[in-house]
Amino acid sequence: MRDHIRAGADSEQLQGGLGVDTRLGTHKPGNVARGMDDAGLRQLSIDVDVELKSVARGQYDSSRHWRALFDHLDNAISARRQTIKRIEGQLMVAGGHGHQRHNDPNSNVARGVCHITRMGGEVNEMTTNHEAFLRAKSVIPGGVNSPVRAYGSVGGDPRFMTAAHGAYVTDVEGRDYVDLICTWGPGLLGHAHPQVVEAVQAAAARGLSFGAPTQGETELAEAIHARVPAVEQVRLVSTGTEATMTAIRLARGVTGRDLIVKFAGCYHGHVDALLAQAGSGVATFALPGSAGVTAATAAETIVVPYNDVDAVEAVFAEKGAQIAAVITEPAAANMGVVPPKPGFNKALRRITAEHGALLIFDEVLTGFRVGPAGWWGLERDASVAAGEAVWTPDLFTFGKVVGGGMPVAAVGGPRALMEQLAPLGPVYQAGTLSGNPVAVAAGLTTMQLADAAVYAKVDAVAAQLSAAVDAALDEVGVPHKVQRAGSLFSVFFGEAAARDGVRNYADAQAQDVYRYAPFFHAMLDAGVSLPPSVFEAWFCSTAHDETAVAKIIAAFPAAAKAAASATR
Ligand SMILES: Cc1ncc(COP(=O)(O)O)c(C=O)c1O
Repeated sequence: MRDHIRAGADSEQLQGGLGVDTRLGTHKPGNVARGMDDAGLRQLSIDVDVELKSVARGQYDSSRHWRALFDHLDNAISARRQTIKRIEGQLMVAGGHGHQRHNDPNSNVARGVCHITRMGGEVNEMTTNHEAFLRAKSVIPGGVNSPVRAYGSVGGDPRFMTAAHGAYVTDVEGRDYVDLICTWGPGLLGHAHPQVVEAVQAAAARGLSFGAPTQGETELAEAIHARVPAVEQVRLVSTGTEATMTAIRLARGVTGRDLIVKFAGCYHGHVDALLAQAGSGVATFALPGSAGVTAATAAETIVVPYNDVDAVEAVFAEKGAQIAAVITEPAAANMGVVPPKPGFNKALRRITAEHGALLIFDEVLTGFRVGPAGWWGLERDASVAAGEAVWTPDLFTFGKVVGGGMPVAAVGGPRALMEQLAPLGPVYQAGTLSGNPVAVAAGLTTMQLADAAVYAKVDAVAAQLSAAVDAALDEVGVPHKVQRAGSLFSVFFGEAAARDGVRNYADAQAQDVYRYAPFFHAMLDAGVSLPPSVFEAWFCSTAHDETAVAKIIAAFPAAAKAAASATR
């Protein structure tokens, strides 16, 4: 990262290497950085921002200001590594933007100017996660823009992030964590993969949004079709929520029926019709659903236990003619990871087909993450290996990996169904930012890079980590069960989970939830960021190299001990 910043420095400064350039006699506040206490380092941070601010006002002289800035940075390295990281993080973030006077986004001046722009012209004092959270809470409900991020079920201050590269995220205090959230799934290739970032920068330079079709959207649709041939047509949207909302509207539109069947503990985004007994944040906060969903809407959703074919049969026996669709996570990963029982998804296909209802595979989380063709692809391969006929659901929804960390999601299926969407058909669906060219560039590049070797690597990391956490908890006698679905895995605590496994939401809720918070915080203290809820999957990436994996594994024993000594 440091080299990247320095790449734009004057050659004279570069010749000075990492040490202080002794030819700069004028401005050397950085010299006092050595041995500074926290207050001094804060002041140093402010000094750097003031430098940048003078650049923003045009009162700059590159030989003085930029040399002085690097002087600060060099000395801060000796004083405290974490401070330099935070400052570098700011510069890196700023480096992603352009500026009217300095069009080269890699120039130091553009970085500095855009940093000031980003901060709204304010001097950015070093802050703590606690301060950042307090400030956020005053203007953002709960301080977060998605509930699970608030650390509600584990306690403490959420980490406010400033940068993410490879397997690591960096918080406002300059601390690095090995990341097992991977932005809740999209980060299959690790954070800020250079080729993805390059594609995004190139697309942004061509225009942020056109409100008109682009060829990139067609290419992304073709890439999805190539992996999941049953998806003959694709409609791109911006979030998984929009994708599932569109899928159920389409199902209702084509069947002329109102009822939707979903499974307890599955999460399909915050669509009114799909929030009943939902997983993810709804499970984390132990909510039955959401206020604000009308009774009429709730009455049109039938919730059945996951992995329970008999319950599905019973619902269809009673109301089959009114059911538009069954929507399922083909491998559930929003109540912790609960793989389908062998034959469960195939039974859903049979039952829905018998009753003229659609089957929607919500692969927002699993799609292009657990394998090149998502969970459906794994089942297809198993069918082929067993010499059985290949079957497909009617509609798929995708998100997360398909956007490579930017807002892209999709709904797809056979042409006959998809052509029921506007403008060809009567089912209306639209979006100002749908198929956004910058987001599509991230998604398309990610899909192009996600080859067999990527999936093999992520699977291997998941296998190593899940075995290691299992062993660490065994070692201290904490009853638990580690469950995996492809490269997704999570830990359930408790005797029942250890004995019988977790097959549905009732099992997941019955676990010893109280053991997770101390486990989570011990990992965090050791520099590993796990999902802040026991009901979420753990995600890894190709960037989780030996060093990152070793750091995670080294943290497990103390976390396991913390879980062991937890009390209700
Ligand atoms: C299976 C599934 N469907 C839908 C969604 C909603 O996606 P988004 O958060 O992009 O709206 C999620 C989000 O986690 C998900 O896991």
